Amino acid sequence: KPYIVIMAGGIGSRFWPYSRNSRPKQFLDILGTGRSLLQMTYDRFREIAEPSQFMVVTNQGYLDLVIEQLPELKSHQILSEPLRKNTATCIAYAAYKIYALDPEAKLIVTPADHLILQEKRFILTMNRAIQASETEGRLITIGIKPNRPETGYGYIQYLEGDNGNPALKVKTFTEKPNIKLAKTFLDSGDFVWNSGIFVWKAKSLLDAFTENLPDIAEIFEEGKSHFGKPTEKDFINRAYTMVKNVSIDYGIMEKSDKVYVILGDFGWSDLGSWHSLHELREKDENNNVVEANALLYDTTDCYIKMDSDKLVVIEGLENYLINESENVLLICKLGGEKKFRDFVANAKKKG
Ligand code: GDD
Ligand code: MG
Repeated sequence: KPYIVIMAGGIGSRFWPYSRNSRPKQFLDILGTGRSLLQMTYDRFREIAEPSQFMVVTNQGYLDLVIEQLPELKSHQILSEPLRKNTATCIAYAAYKIYALDPEAKLIVTPADHLILQEKRFILTMNRAIQASETEGRLITIGIKPNRPETGYGYIQYLEGDNGNPALKVKTFTEKPNIKLAKTFLDSGDFVWNSGIFVWKAKSLLDAFTENLPDIAEIFEEGKSHFGKPTEKDFINRAYTMVKNVSIDYGIMEKSDKVYVILGDFGWSDLGSWHSLHELREKDENNNVVEANALLYDTTDCYIKMDSDKLVVIEGLENYLINESENVLLICKLGGEKKFRDFVANAKKKG
């Protein structure tokens, strides 16, 4: 039985101001289903896992949110990080802890903020990946057929497998290429996107840490006796001040020669930005998503979402985002995600 490790500590800055440091997007009901993205992730994996098999790794500032949204979990299943050190450290914490409990453990590591439309096919793919991960040493990732030169993803080039074996050996893994490279990858037809969902034996992953991120491996290796003891928190606080900030993609997946990909086709989407959400949500006849009390004239391809029920009257706008959340009103081009980090940083200075 696999452990399901949900990474839920990101800040979702590209959904600002709706997604805030205090309540990032994984905790929001961004699709209007009544369940947050984190809860939807949990529900999806409940098909193949009992509540006791889950681990959620999050920032200590979000502990209460996780407890509130996933009341089925026991406190030892929620791992609290004192600092943001990116996904390699987040995954190391969970993997070393689980390995200490169960050296034979298998892990599925998943982001908390993706949308998956075809859950049956998703589960089928997960089962294939679990099977493929049984070969010692293998790091399995799930690949998705790309449809645009997205620069926010990892790109995977793989070797054709022997007949019937779904695990394809990865030739190259390129995290977040520039647009020129992304276009080349897309045009070549040889690449798939990294979905960010990984499957591996705890042991295979620990070996990959030792090989590719030895600093992180050493810190957790030395501290492993603290797991499950009252000293765990102290150790984690110390470890997190020491480790470097690196994602699993740059830190391990790009470097390791033991990466295999399983191709998946299950209506996957990384709800990475307002733009990607606009593509998914229901739209009016002029291609606007309207979650507001609004009167629109000659307005197309916009996303309008207001906290308040203030009447919004708009004329002549095309491809704009208008979002009022708490004390912020943001008006910007839809698709200007790259600027969001600056928006957030400068807004902080304004108070
Ligand atoms: N606990 C914890 N701690 N979680 C984190 C941290 C952290 O420091 N940083 C990020 N996360 C969580 C996020 O909340 C998200 O659920 C997941 O880890 C992935 O992080 P992102 O920041 O969203 O990564 P990305 O979207 O830029 O890139 C990854 O996903 C792409 C597909 O969506 C990479 O794996 C790419 O290769 C991949 O294509
Ligand atoms: Mg993401």
